[in-house]
Amino acid sequence: MYDADLSPQTEALWPTLSARMTSLEFRAAAPLIDEINRLKHERNAVILAHNYMTPDIFHGVGDYVGDSLGLAREAQRSDASVIVQAGVLFMAETSKVLCPDKRVLIPDPLAGCSLASSITAADVRLIRQRHPGFPVVGYVNTTAEVKAELDICCTSANAVQVVEQIAAEWGTDKVVLLPDEFLARNVARQTGVKIIAWAGRCEVHERFNAQDIWDLRAAYPDAEVLAHPECPTEVVEASHFTGSTAAMTDYIAKRKPARVVLITECSMADNIACESPGVEFVRPCNLCPHMKRITLQNIRDALLLDQFEVTVDEDVAARARAAVQRMVDLPPPAVAARYDMVKAMHHVAVELI
Ligand code: 13P
Ligand code: SF4
Repeated sequence: MYDADLSPQTEALWPTLSARMTSLEFRAAAPLIDEINRLKHERNAVILAHNYMTPDIFHGVGDYVGDSLGLAREAQRSDASVIVQAGVLFMAETSKVLCPDKRVLIPDPLAGCSLASSITAADVRLIRQRHPGFPVVGYVNTTAEVKAELDICCTSANAVQVVEQIAAEWGTDKVVLLPDEFLARNVARQTGVKIIAWAGRCEVHERFNAQDIWDLRAAYPDAEVLAHPECPTEVVEASHFTGSTAAMTDYIAKRKPARVVLITECSMADNIACESPGVEFVRPCNLCPHMKRITLQNIRDALLLDQFEVTVDEDVAARARAAVQRMVDLPPPAVAARYDMVKAMHHVAVELI
């Protein structure tokens, strides 16, 4: 395996991947990278890879890489017949909802999400009964059945924009935002809109606390700390910036901090480090067990064995599509304008259901 003939494209990945892989690891992964890229071509497939994939996947085989909003947009833009979602199940379902005529494959159907499994469609219907007259915004980290019950979907990249827009459209100062309690609290503080929230949590981001951030800032006073908005509010408040995984990537590309800490899943820092030789990453490491189910091996098997197909009931998909499409049709979020948003905080009530 180690002396396999590699394509020039795969050989050319070494300078990028050498930041996070040993040459032995690269030699072991390279034949699979070669095989996947050949299979993609044969099957007219694209690989949509989330920012939390490991660098061998992200840099080696991802055709489009990014956050959940970017991947949803790319699914729709792509003219491939097959989409392999290198991410978790809710992302693959979103691709299927947006692209009913494409074959969508997930390399491991058990790649779930603690937020998506925290709420059901019946819960959303009950919330509507209890809070009539308020728009219901749902995070993209939900099942297609839950999306089918929403007025509009959002991701961490555009939650602020979606909540501000729908509150203005409905002429209300209160919005239901499900299912991530911390995202809801962070959006409430950034927008001033009152939020009715659900007590869902991301099992990766809920583990950070404010003391972690103050300890990191004391140990590395020159480091810029960027936190994902799924983190507790106290963590976001103790950080320099909060934004989606794509917004963090953008921040580093534009501001080029000498030293940075990413308060999120730790493959994210690895992927950016491969392309940012001048930036030092301090790496507190929390892994998402769901994202880490996706490997080069099961991506290869997905393409070779045509598994595992993601299907969504047609009626559910049609209703979910309306909520997701409304979000995709919004103009892309103005990332740079939000660099200072941690400082712009409102004190508003969040009602937990
Ligand atoms: P992004 O939308 O920021 O990529 O986040 C998705 C996710 O699952 C974060 O935990
Ligand atoms: Fe879900 Fe959190 Fe994993 Fe993202 S990091 S997929 S929100 S559990």
